[in-house]
Amino acid sequence: MMLTRRSFVRIAGGSIGLLVAAPALVGLGAGARTRWGSGDPFSLGVASGSPVPNGFVLWTRLAPDPLSPDPAAPGGMTGGDVEITYEIAADPAMREVVRRGPAIAEVAFAHSVHVEIDGLAPDRPYWYRFTAGEASSTIGRARTAPLAGAPLDRLRFGFVSCSNYEEGYFSAYRHLADEDPDLVLFLGDYIYEYVNPHDGRVRVHSDGVEASTLGTYRNRYAQYRLDSDLQRLHATAPSLVTWDDHEVQNDYGGEWSENFDEPDVFLERRTAAYRAFYEHMPLRPSLSRPKGDRMRIYDRFAFGDLAEFSVIDGRQYRSRAACYIPPNRGGGRLENDSSCPERRDPNRTMLGMPQEAWLYNGLTRSKARWNVIAQNMMMAELREQQAGGDFKVSTEDWNGYPECRARLLRHLHDSKAANPVVLSGDMHAYWTSDLRLDFDDERAPIVATEFVGTSVTSGCPPFESYARHLPNNPHIRFFESRKRGYVSVDLTPAQMTTRLRTVSDATKPDASVATLETFVIEDGRAGAIGA
Ligand SMILES: [Fe+2]
Repeated sequence: MMLTRRSFVRIAGGSIGLLVAAPALVGLGAGARTRWGSGDPFSLGVASGSPVPNGFVLWTRLAPDPLSPDPAAPGGMTGGDVEITYEIAADPAMREVVRRGPAIAEVAFAHSVHVEIDGLAPDRPYWYRFTAGEASSTIGRARTAPLAGAPLDRLRFGFVSCSNYEEGYFSAYRHLADEDPDLVLFLGDYIYEYVNPHDGRVRVHSDGVEASTLGTYRNRYAQYRLDSDLQRLHATAPSLVTWDDHEVQNDYGGEWSENFDEPDVFLERRTAAYRAFYEHMPLRPSLSRPKGDRMRIYDRFAFGDLAEFSVIDGRQYRSRAACYIPPNRGGGRLENDSSCPERRDPNRTMLGMPQEAWLYNGLTRSKARWNVIAQNMMMAELREQQAGGDFKVSTEDWNGYPECRARLLRHLHDSKAANPVVLSGDMHAYWTSDLRLDFDDERAPIVATEFVGTSVTSGCPPFESYARHLPNNPHIRFFESRKRGYVSVDLTPAQMTTRLRTVSDATKPDASVATLETFVIEDGRAGAIGA
């Protein structure tokens, strides 16, 4: 199959409705005539993301041989950039096309496509697809946000985290798609870089190696994106995305590896991992195209007067983990103030000072009824009593950065941002908590409610290993680690209704779904109420 400028113009010429003329293309050269033989170039599906009032990002990646082991031909593609076509329609059957234009599959980014669309009408669904020569992608549905400050009565969204392909099937994604959400939040561990021991694997990472290079990270994303449940979820609603550690390496933080690699060596790996993340996510290219070893993914999205989402990055800008001392693992350690006073250093940050300032400024300015902070790790304190009776906390999550957490909670309190809610991943368990201004004072004001969602598939330590700590952490209102699933939220001006949704068995492809627990937060009243 051959894609030429002539065939693109012919396709465009047959359109209906408002069309935007294709700009002159430069520099495509021979790449525009790349061939892909008999494979489906759209094998990885489509996605939309980053919705704003006049548009969104559309994503696909050309991969006619998606798991090609040849790093010089990712996805089976060779040659230069390829021009394909995107179409946006007002109806699900794509009869009323309102926009058609060129999109460039960039060889520098594994022939992924990120089209930042603008000029659309606010607060409505649109349908889209890509075409390349004779090939056509599946049709996806995106949605524009309402105009800033415009009244919005209802928003339904879901959030998910921790989907280890080897530990099960993605039924949680399928059931969330069935709920027809307006928005999906991916809160980290979208892929797992490592390969599980042979026992107990439900499916296998096909290449059998730990991802650590650009080629192996690309193939990991490609394998996940071949999953039909995940493809369907992406095609159902736009997403907002952040990451946790497994998009790079277990328990890494900032420039520091859990294995005490030299930072320069580890940064090469991180750069490859971040690049592959960009290549597979509907991030805004204007914001998130990787720059050297950095890649900004934190971003803010508003939905009329109802909600503002601050999607933050709790991995890239961290200070080095407290008491990062060989030869122990460089990731999580259990420490307390006497064993590790460094943890309390106010100069340490989990978010990096620029991201902290960006977050606090946004919260101060927000006029939204609900202010959602979407991020990777549990924010509530978790004190773990040791055999000798003393208490310790992990240095790997927010507990390792208590002064940064205190700044954030103090800011949430002082800024008077309405109805702050924190959504989190990482724990492979549901945790519902009151985030108090001071975790040591049960009478301190509740400044936000936190919902940690369980994993899509990834396993959790035994229930009792965490449950025994609950009496020592009275701000934790609910805990359940024995279920896999996702969380579904209905937001109205009056209340936020949060349903913890569980799948019957993540090791079965046809698992059913049920609601484990429902919480309601009423406007103006911090703290979740069991419903
Ligand atoms: Fe995880």
